[in-house]
Amino acid sequence: MSAPEIRGLQKSFTRDEYTSPAIFASELETIFSKHWCYVGRADKLSHIGDRMVCNVGSESILIVRNRESQLRAYFNVCQHRGSQLCDESGSGYGAAITCPYHAWSYSLDGKLVGAIHHEKESFDRECISLKQVRVDEWQGCLFVCLDNNEVPLLKWLENMYSKPLELDKFGMAGLKSVRTTVDEAQANWKVLVENYSECLHCSVVHPEFCDLVPVFATGRTIDKDRGDWGANLADGVNSISFKQNQGLTLIPGMDDKSLFGAYVYPNMLIDVSPDSVAVTTYIPRSPTHTTVITDYLFPADMAADSSLDLNAVIDFNDLVNHQDIAVSERVQRGTASSAFKQAYHTEMEKYAMQFVKQYRQDTQTH
Ligand code: FES
Ligand SMILES: [Fe+2]
Repeated sequence: MSAPEIRGLQKSFTRDEYTSPAIFASELETIFSKHWCYVGRADKLSHIGDRMVCNVGSESILIVRNRESQLRAYFNVCQHRGSQLCDESGSGYGAAITCPYHAWSYSLDGKLVGAIHHEKESFDRECISLKQVRVDEWQGCLFVCLDNNEVPLLKWLENMYSKPLELDKFGMAGLKSVRTTVDEAQANWKVLVENYSECLHCSVVHPEFCDLVPVFATGRTIDKDRGDWGANLADGVNSISFKQNQGLTLIPGMDDKSLFGAYVYPNMLIDVSPDSVAVTTYIPRSPTHTTVITDYLFPADMAADSSLDLNAVIDFNDLVNHQDIAVSERVQRGTASSAFKQAYHTEMEKYAMQFVKQYRQDTQTH
């Protein structure tokens, strides 16, 4: 029996949509294998031969920088007998991708260039090459798309309901990654997205954050009197940090009184504060498990200045992140109850509703 309609509330996801392995598997196909997914920062691939191993949908993907300094992405699988090729991201591998099983090696452009114990002419090497997938970059952020029919990345971002291209003015491409945090959240990826999309929980869960951003204590994510989706920082606050007035450099296009955030469907969060940007990706592992990876970006001069306490910024954001993960895990445990049928949203959760709408469009379920 379906959950009742309730006046003033909109239906969100059902218990099954938070918990079912079959629905989770179909999401990987209909959402994560169809659209552009954020996978990490491009400055992790700054040299020829640098690698990034990432998960998109149910696939392991290998991204490399080739000899022409272009990005190339491949399914992370050898075309000889199917061994997974690379285990880790990193630098210093040189210009060949060598399979750990029989040591066949591929160029950075995916061509088979070496097969030990075999004469060059003994089989048709041209017919064996890595299977390429689409990779592109926006503001120093790498995206992969497994579907050749999807629109180009910039078009995808332009059409996005949360308007991420409005963040272009902050010049994220020029910022430097100072630290990457990885958390394993025992929660469905949609629970995490819904949580990010509303601030009804902020006064309860994030008291420290509300002290810095007063509008959050009212349950709203943006200040109504602003036309730019921003939130005002409290008087005397100029950094989302345990320390104020450190003399940190502002990121380009930013002032010292504002905070912006955007969710980029399906798996990316961007949080812009006066002196730093946190870019997060959700990697769905199972109906009840999501890996949360956050890169903390700063202006290059700050990243190089050891006299600054950037940990005060990173640790504050990490605290908020852990508070969010803890409540999301609590939700996930609750959704498993037979007494839970369906989540609801109030009109104050309208960004979460937009997410549900986009999800319904993709999955065509009701
Ligand atoms: S499976 Fe990769 S070289 Fe044999
Ligand atoms: Fe939160």
